[in-house]
Amino acid sequence: MRQRGLGGRGLLLLVLVLCCSAPCVVPDLAADRAALLAFRAAVGPGLPWDASAPSPCGWRGVTCDNATGAAGQRVVALQLPGAGLIGQLPPGILGNLTALRTLSLRSNAISGGIPDDIGSCAELRYLYLHENQLSGEIPEGFFSLGLLQRLVLSENRIGGNVSSEFNRLPRLATLYLENNALNGALPADLDLPNLQLFNVSGNQLSGPVPASLAGRPASAFSGTGLCGGPLSPCANTAAPPPPSPLSPPAPADQDSKNSKNSKLSAAAIAGIVAGAVVALLVVVLAVIFLLCFRRRKTKADTSTETAAYGEEDLSPETVSVARRGGKGDVKRSRSRSAQMTTAGSDARKLVFVGGEPDVAYELESLLHASAEVLGKGWLGTTYRATLEGGVAVVTVKRLREAPIPEKEFRGAVAALGALRHDNLVPLRSYFYSKEEKLIVYDFVRAKGLSALLHFPNGAASLDFAARARVARACARGIAFIHAAGSAHGNIKSSNVLVTDARDTAYVTDYGLVQLVGAGVPLKRVTGYRAPEVTDPRKTSQEADVYSFGVLLLELLTGRAPANSVPGSDAAADLPQWVRTVVQEEWTGEAFDAAIANETLVEEEMVRLLQLASDCTEERPDARPAMADVAARIEDIVGSALRKAASDSDEFHSVSADQSS
Ligand SMILES: *[C@@H]1O[C@H](CO)[C@@H](O)[C@H](O)[C@H]1NC(C)=O
Ligand SMILES: *[C@@H]1O[C@H](CO)[C@@H](O)[C@H](O)[C@H]1NC(C)=O
Ligand SMILES: *[C@@H]1O[C@H](CO)[C@@H](O)[C@H](O)[C@H]1NC(C)=O
Ligand SMILES: *[C@@H]1O[C@H](CO)[C@@H](O)[C@H](O)[C@H]1NC(C)=O
Repeated sequence: MRQRGLGGRGLLLLVLVLCCSAPCVVPDLAADRAALLAFRAAVGPGLPWDASAPSPCGWRGVTCDNATGAAGQRVVALQLPGAGLIGQLPPGILGNLTALRTLSLRSNAISGGIPDDIGSCAELRYLYLHENQLSGEIPEGFFSLGLLQRLVLSENRIGGNVSSEFNRLPRLATLYLENNALNGALPADLDLPNLQLFNVSGNQLSGPVPASLAGRPASAFSGTGLCGGPLSPCANTAAPPPPSPLSPPAPADQDSKNSKNSKLSAAAIAGIVAGAVVALLVVVLAVIFLLCFRRRKTKADTSTETAAYGEEDLSPETVSVARRGGKGDVKRSRSRSAQMTTAGSDARKLVFVGGEPDVAYELESLLHASAEVLGKGWLGTTYRATLEGGVAVVTVKRLREAPIPEKEFRGAVAALGALRHDNLVPLRSYFYSKEEKLIVYDFVRAKGLSALLHFPNGAASLDFAARARVARACARGIAFIHAAGSAHGNIKSSNVLVTDARDTAYVTDYGLVQLVGAGVPLKRVTGYRAPEVTDPRKTSQEADVYSFGVLLLELLTGRAPANSVPGSDAAADLPQWVRTVVQEEWTGEAFDAAIANETLVEEEMVRLLQLASDCTEERPDARPAMADVAARIEDIVGSALRKAASDSDEFHSVSADQSS
């Protein structure tokens, strides 16, 4: 309940005020609407809001509800992630949206300070302003947001110190401040009893970690000058220094002290010598191991890709059949085909499974094909081979050396070859010898989903409709494998290939895990692995459903599962993260910024998220069967695509907004 001067709309407000009885609230939906229009004028001129509409409730990103204490509807959520907002937010705008519970302006280009009057949004619970260019200090008024539960200000340029005023926000469960310009010490008396998620890494903070945060992981403080708690002890542990922005980072200080005035006992010296000897041994062993390991690798394998990167990520866009032109290319190709030749020199035959290809080829022509490395993973290396004369292009998977009995191998591959489905890359033939195992697929002109989602500008090219189609294609393919009584065993985004038109997708590498016999060091992408799986070679349909659930989460959130992309946030356990998000009713925050604005299909997004979370249940028997998953996806995706088709103009305007 706030007293405000009655400005231009004075008459209307006056009438309302006079009409109101006891719990009278001056701001109403009309005031919210005015504030939103001012908001648009300030930072979002491209927002497709219909200013002639009497109510703002239908505007993109605006949610209305009967707010507590209000006579009617109010704007309770403003969610415009990745909406191309740019410029400064003056005071007198956000502060007028007094019924707001959720405000998400993340992933935009908003600059300037956080307006002080945000403190007037007394109902605010969820505040996401990360990934903007906000600067200045956290304003004093901010700390009157006593109901605030989630605060994410990461990736801005917010300066000043972390004040003990935060103690006035007792409900705070998430406090993410990483990668800003915060300085000074953390208040020693900081005490947030409900804090679950906390991170201040990447700030110029110094001094000791407050006692209440001592149990947090060290990574929550990385890239700061803080000490104590999970970090190395502070230079002066007896009495924590008074918080001073001038105190130098502790670790350097401490090092110099130790080296100066420590006298080493005989025991310590003996320990150090022993340690050095052990370390030397370890290094020598590692070098020997590396040399041996290297020898077994082919030259082609030394391409820069890491195993964790998965397959097909380098997949080029187009197939060039007549590629004899470029000199460098030819050389590289020759060296690779030479590798394949020597390896398969016992001149046995390629075995075709599940029917002959359109253009027949033999082992001999395969071995002389020009080959190009598409990807390298823990199962082996994938090449695209253009057969002599350019008659055909195939994808060859050269399996990692594995001592698998011949009979078992042939039986398993024959079974895989019998699987024919529109959404599975067809396994066409194989070659088996003691030294060399090749799996040959028909070439499909498509790109790895992992590359599409996680490389710069990739995600923007996949709207929700495209992601939904990919999900549906994968679900169909995997359900087909399951119906045949088999399991995929290695579902991940780099094993999903998406066509350039983004209209369909193929699943590949199905069943290969079982072919890589025991004794191979498994560096499997862990983020997709179901919790019950200890030996990834022992596949199960339940574990597939889990991995598929993670894949769905990846499609929806745009986040890479743990360890699947080098340099990504390795700590992110995607299912766990999404569970937290959904529990806390900030579902909208889970979605990839590139699709979060597609309010038209929001319901379908949420349903797909729910399905993904069912698939990633901890207990295998609690997960739905793949056939049910596929059926639910058909329903969800069908509904989303119908909406998209009937409103394709709006979709175009969405992407236009985002690119501006
Ligand atoms: C915000 O509210 C104040 C007081 O009610 C009013 O004077 C001002 O015009 C409002 N601002 C906007 C942008 O609507
Ligand atoms: C909101 O309030 C209006 C009247 O004030 C009422 O007609 C409507 O049913 C309410 N809606 C909900 C969801 O409570
Ligand atoms: C934070 O900054 C304010 C002024 O900007 C200062 O008064 C206060 O002492 C600082 N607090 C800490 C803990 O550094
Ligand atoms: C904190 O953020 C940094 C940088 O984003 C990240 O590397 C680290 O894993 C995070 N730690 C926690 C505990 O969230």
